[in-house]
Amino acid sequence: MSVPSTPDAAAKGFHIVTFGCQMNVHDSRWLEQALTSRGFVPAPVETARVVVVNTCSVREKPERKVLSTLGRIRQATGGNPDVLVAVAGCVAQQLGETFFDLEGQVRLVIGSDGMAGAPQAIEALLEQPTKRLALLDFSSRYLEREIPATSGQADPVALVNIMQGCDNFCAYCIVPFTRGRQKSRPTSAVLDECRRLLDAGAREITLLGQNVNAFGKDAQADGVSFAELLRKVGALPGLARLRYVTPHPRDMGPEDVAAFAEIPALCPRLHLPLQSGADAVLARMGRGYDRAAYLGLVESLRTVRPDIAVSADIIVGFPGETEGDFQDTLDVMRKCAFATSFSFCYSDRPGTRASGFADKIPLETSRRRLMELQSLQEELGGAWLEGRVGETVDLLIEGRSPRQTPGLDSWQGRDPYGVPVHVSLAPDADHTGEMPVVRIVRAGRHSLIAEPA
Ligand code: 5AD
Ligand code: SF4
Repeated sequence: MSVPSTPDAAAKGFHIVTFGCQMNVHDSRWLEQALTSRGFVPAPVETARVVVVNTCSVREKPERKVLSTLGRIRQATGGNPDVLVAVAGCVAQQLGETFFDLEGQVRLVIGSDGMAGAPQAIEALLEQPTKRLALLDFSSRYLEREIPATSGQADPVALVNIMQGCDNFCAYCIVPFTRGRQKSRPTSAVLDECRRLLDAGAREITLLGQNVNAFGKDAQADGVSFAELLRKVGALPGLARLRYVTPHPRDMGPEDVAAFAEIPALCPRLHLPLQSGADAVLARMGRGYDRAAYLGLVESLRTVRPDIAVSADIIVGFPGETEGDFQDTLDVMRKCAFATSFSFCYSDRPGTRASGFADKIPLETSRRRLMELQSLQEELGGAWLEGRVGETVDLLIEGRSPRQTPGLDSWQGRDPYGVPVHVSLAPDADHTGEMPVVRIVRAGRHSLIAEPA
């Protein structure tokens, strides 16, 4: 970011900075479209009239990260008071109106359930330069958002929310505090949005939620279970691929497992957070399953869908984690042969049960465990990718590859397992959204190289 020369160059320019999970990415994308349909235009931070920081508080020093971002925005905008700065997402929900004191440029705080009203709030605050607004109330039902008037063309890969919030209160997790109680979205609204996206050209849909397979289990539910929802979405015309994130192993029933055999569009890929492979740690985390149940679940998934690729989230250094517990986690990773995993050192989140637990693990121990775990994951992931050389798969092309070889036109897509694949296709054509069949010829560290089959 550099110091601006013309602070008001774009009267309706907006700039969004996004941290965190796919829910945040999706919220930011929606806000971008909602602002665009109101006549705003994307702009660099230096000339934007509205700057939104969409924040995440799941891990490690999130407040510090947000404040340093706000500091950089102040610098880039020259502290111009006409620039409306808004903070959204989990840190906004947590710190609320404190942001007004922490950074004078902030005039809008958008909590988790405030996003639906954010475009109107932004317009109102631009009209009233002395006002500040905090949208922090939790709603007891899923709040539908306006459908932005867009160009009519959807990306080939679309995200659709099916629920908000989480009721699990896992001992380490701040999500139930920042995102509120679980609220399933009405099935009809989910299906309408999916249909609209498919009509506009989407080929792949990822259903999103903090605990997706608890869909239908809250007071807001309309009687449709998660597996039924999958079947309904999976049957929509035009859908080539269906994914979901994130399920909870405890809520993964036999119907959810069977769906991998029954629904042709459902991709053979499941992100199934493990968190720990040790029973004592899982019990203290309050996860509601043990090591045997997790392993049994992965086995049953492999029985119905032998080619399924499983990935996981894992925390090391949870309070009281012994060396033996950690070895149990590595053991589960080997047994499940995770294709990938996201792993983190435990850190205290304010207000969570674990933040009050004794036996905190020294950071050097957690870091050593994390490195050991990640090097095992590199081995497992590398072996899985290497083993796939020679396979023929379909790709969904998402755009031109950032890696271009002179004389070739290289495109990037994802295979059914979600792995990025690079392939050279006929030059001088836009292949976005196409689904060519390709043969994998080489494995990289985290991606694959293919040739048209
Ligand atoms: N410390 C470390 N990792 C955490 N996660 C959630 N809370 C914490 C915490 N306090 C991780 C979990 C979760 C992922 C989104 O972030 O693995 O699945
Ligand atoms: Fe957090 Fe547990 Fe809910 Fe996941 S299931 S969002 S880890 S409380």
